[in-house]
Amino acid sequence: MRDLKTILITGGAGFIGSHVVRRFVNNYPGSRIINLDKLTYAGNLENLTDIEKKPNYTFVKGDIVDSAFVDKLFLEYAFDGVIHLAAESHVDRSISNPTEFAVTNVIGTINLLNAAKKNWHGKYDTCLFYHVSTDEVYGSLRTTGYFTEETSYDPRSPYSASKASSDHFVMAYYHTYGLPVMISNCSNNYGPNHFPEKLIPLAIHNIKNNKPVPVYGKGENVRDWLYVEDHASAIDLAFHKGKVGETYNIGGHNEWKNIELIRLLCQVMDKKLNRTEGTSKKLITFVKDRAGHDLRYAIDSSKIQKELGWKPSLVFEQGLEKTVDWYLANDKWLNDVTTGEYQKYYKEQYEER
Ligand code: NAD
Ligand code: TYD
Repeated sequence: MRDLKTILITGGAGFIGSHVVRRFVNNYPGSRIINLDKLTYAGNLENLTDIEKKPNYTFVKGDIVDSAFVDKLFLEYAFDGVIHLAAESHVDRSISNPTEFAVTNVIGTINLLNAAKKNWHGKYDTCLFYHVSTDEVYGSLRTTGYFTEETSYDPRSPYSASKASSDHFVMAYYHTYGLPVMISNCSNNYGPNHFPEKLIPLAIHNIKNNKPVPVYGKGENVRDWLYVEDHASAIDLAFHKGKVGETYNIGGHNEWKNIELIRLLCQVMDKKLNRTEGTSKKLITFVKDRAGHDLRYAIDSSKIQKELGWKPSLVFEQGLEKTVDWYLANDKWLNDVTTGEYQKYYKEQYEER
């Protein structure tokens, strides 16, 4: 078991990052966890109020694109581990603004790699740079087959192209300089604190408010959904026990066509909101398809299951109910993140196209 004592987690105020930060702060009281986040529209310190006062936790506001700042931070804290999650993460936004994705996801990652390389010189065997990536780098599957760690990269959206590029840089620093790195590529996550621009929280928010639930195209696209805490547990395991230089695929073996997922969600919401069965389904509205919409993602996670003993803890129906319960109990969180910038985004994305 790798024993790292000063761990930088980037993007820790975001959806997945906040679950990773919470897990590490609670499970490793002997390690210091530094959460670096720029607090973009997607970053929210309300996600972490339960652990913000813990003695092994520090939050730093800053931008991974600012190389001087990143270098200074590495000097100040002498990290021996990095878990890099900070990124622009939404495909639709990447279609409107690809450059922002290249800058944050590629340049930001290179800045962190450079700082690690400089500061870890001579002690590579006691450090680790863990890069959190996505299954979207593998492109789009037809109706059969799975992405394995050997599948060739074939990114098709500006988001996945930027993540693929960052993955390539991470592996380039391993092969060229021997930097100790690891990558995991995970399928679609869902759960508490998910920003309501992504399918599941957006649908929950709209159903709750009796607003149309936008389904792109015919709703035939397939995603493989994993509960966010199961992703955090896989990262924890690979970070501590995985092999340097390796890639691990993480996924739920849980494929759903979007339309079927939304129908299930409508049933759950009817039950939770005491509505007559079938009420929420009437809100489903088919809208113009996403440009270049990848048909299907599905992960083969047998490597991390066999080599490290990871497996998902929740079946989807349980996880979805837990998620709906969280959103219904956290009105303030949802209201806070759906004001201001969100209203503008929503109008441009759904009402003006
Ligand atoms: P998110 O958008 O919810 O959070 C991203 C976080 O990064 C935010 O807190 C934001 O403030 C921060 N950030 C953005 N730009 C920054 C910058 N320049 N400097 C510092 N911080 C910055 O994203 P997420 O869904 O939690 O995804 C986290 C990571 O996991 C990403 O790298 C993403 O590609 C990857 N991933 C996501 C999924 C998914 O289903 N959401 C699946 C697989 C992999
Ligand atoms: P999303 O949550 O944006 O994740 P990703 O594009 O990274 O997989 O979208 C999940 C699926 O849902 C994807 O096929 C696009 C579709 N979708 C809709 O049908 N309607 C929506 O309003 C959104 C946001 C997504």
